[in-house]
Amino acid sequence: MKFGIILGSTRDGRVSPQVGEYIKSIADKRDEHNFEIVDITDYNLPFLGTGTPNLAWNEKINSLDGYIFIVQEYNHALSAALKNALDSAREEWFNKAAGIVSYGSGGGIRAAEQVRTILAEQKVADVRTNPAFNLFTDFENFSTFKPGEHMEAGVNDLLDELILWSTALKTIR
Ligand SMILES: Cc1cc2nc3c(=O)[nH]c(=O)nc-3n(C[C@H](O)[C@H](O)[C@H](O)COP(=O)(O)O)c2cc1C
Repeated sequence: MKFGIILGSTRDGRVSPQVGEYIKSIADKRDEHNFEIVDITDYNLPFLGTGTPNLAWNEKINSLDGYIFIVQEYNHALSAALKNALDSAREEWFNKAAGIVSYGSGGGIRAAEQVRTILAEQKVADVRTNPAFNLFTDFENFSTFKPGEHMEAGVNDLLDELILWSTALKTIR
């Protein structure tokens, strides 16, 4: 199966690529599946309803069997860029599974829970395990990602759950 690791932030100096690459390095040990970084910035998505939609985004989302969202917290919420990216596709998300990896000063869990609410409306089954990284303890100077080794077990739990549910959902698509 093919999985997308979706980077939720787009700002200059963002740390989401480091977090995404860390998740990919663990996921890539699952040889039978393919994991790719999906960077919202590559798609120059217009705000929904303004300008010409970039259908390459819809095609990419459609082509994937499941997703891992890299979610960061801005003002106790998910980023506007990720919300817009979620809104910019619809049927392409349906009947897929997803896992959430979050970060922020409190692990980004408020943003992660908001993403779950949106995924329910997009018919995406979000798995329970949410590795949540803390800006104070898992990053140096809030900018260099240095997660503790103990976090890897949670990432593997997420992957186990994601692969299981994605396998099941593939049978109904
Ligand atoms: C506008 C703004 C608001 C933020 N608000 C929060 C917040 O409410 N809670 C939190 O834990 N971190 C907050 N942060 C810190 C971000 O989570 C942190 O900068 C993180 O690195 C952002 O992800 P990024 O580097 O991938 O863009 C905020 C950062 C910005 C830029």
